[in-house]
Amino acid sequence: MSLSMKAAIAPGVNQRIVVADVELGDPRAGEILVKIVASGLCASDLNALDGKRNLVPFPAILGHEAAGVVIQTGPGVDHVVPGDHVVLSIVPSCGTCKYCSMGKPNFCTTAGNAMGAGGLFDKESLLTLNGERLNHFLCVSSFAEYAVVPASGAVVIPKDMPLDRAALISCAVLTGYGAVMNTAKVTKGSRVVVFGCGGVGLNIIQGARIAGAKDIIAVDISEEKLELAKTVGATMGVNASTGDPVAAIREYMGGADFVFEALGREETVRQAWLTVDAFGSLTLVGLMKSGTQLSIPADPFVNDQLIQGCYFGASNIKTDVPNLVGKYMNGDLLLDEVISDRISIDQINEAFDQLKNGEGARSVLVFE
Ligand code: APR
Ligand code: ZN
Ligand code: ZN
Repeated sequence: MSLSMKAAIAPGVNQRIVVADVELGDPRAGEILVKIVASGLCASDLNALDGKRNLVPFPAILGHEAAGVVIQTGPGVDHVVPGDHVVLSIVPSCGTCKYCSMGKPNFCTTAGNAMGAGGLFDKESLLTLNGERLNHFLCVSSFAEYAVVPASGAVVIPKDMPLDRAALISCAVLTGYGAVMNTAKVTKGSRVVVFGCGGVGLNIIQGARIAGAKDIIAVDISEEKLELAKTVGATMGVNASTGDPVAAIREYMGGADFVFEALGREETVRQAWLTVDAFGSLTLVGLMKSGTQLSIPADPFVNDQLIQGCYFGASNIKTDVPNLVGKYMNGDLLLDEVISDRISIDQINEAFDQLKNGEGARSVLVFE
């Protein structure tokens, strides 16, 4: 059995997305069929599409920042049932590989290999177009009416949580908020600087506000993004297109205790590093182009400064997703403000053009 559904197919790097009817096979052991309600357009989808990172074999159905409703469960699935509302994620886990056994399921080798092969855990695909294989993206592929995903990547949320806003939690919020709380461990009263105020950067800013930071400086090249940054918690905005952001930040507060780079560009990593104060840290959240070599001044290391990487906000989806849903419900986490557009599947190419040009905060693809 398989179902026919409307999906957005990415034929290859730098090719326009094509919307077509495709076939999706039934969920197998450990898998679930989910009706996608909302899927955010994330920079990682764009990274795959424009070849910045080699994330998936093509043709593929992209999309990974998603939420929806469980329709059917395969054998052996016991933590979700049909009708449940779920947040999907890019960190399903097998439970038995080396990293899963170490308690680091976000680095699951089975999932990583599956993603590299464009399949589900056995590397097979359940997606076809006229009998030809289409690849799964990060074990999610949510730019489609339905998705079959490993059940371990789905987290049940309360039914009163709006699913379009829940979708953002799936990637941008977990990544940004997690970088603040789990990786950098921002402290009350501290000084924070965030380079890049896109979907991820804005959530770093709100995380810093929730953590009780005193100064939160947002750096971007767009005034619109800087305004939005202030809405979610930045205490000051620095426009990097009108002058040297390092000089502006140094003049304002000397240096920062916690600096985040949320763009993945060498120039901004360098600038970010130069704004760290003694004993401070720089957390690299933005993904760099595959193969990038970084060159940064070494002198600041004598100041006990730290530079560290971060994947998916070091989040634990089982506890962090419900926690963040609760924070949205009680008004601490602002998500309505971060969604700039709700689009239909037929507008997906234009929405990616906007993302590429840095316009709007987050576009979310919604299915009626
Ligand atoms: N200095 C500061 N900000 C800049 C600069 C610059 N030189 N150039 C671009 N920006 C801003 C853009 O205006 C935009 O607001 O950086 C932001 C990037 O945001 P998005 O494109 O929405 O990216 P996002 O989804 O937030 O992801 C950020 O994380 O996952 C990675 O690869 C992904 O590198 C990306 C990063
Ligand atoms: Zn993402
Ligand atoms: Zn594993």
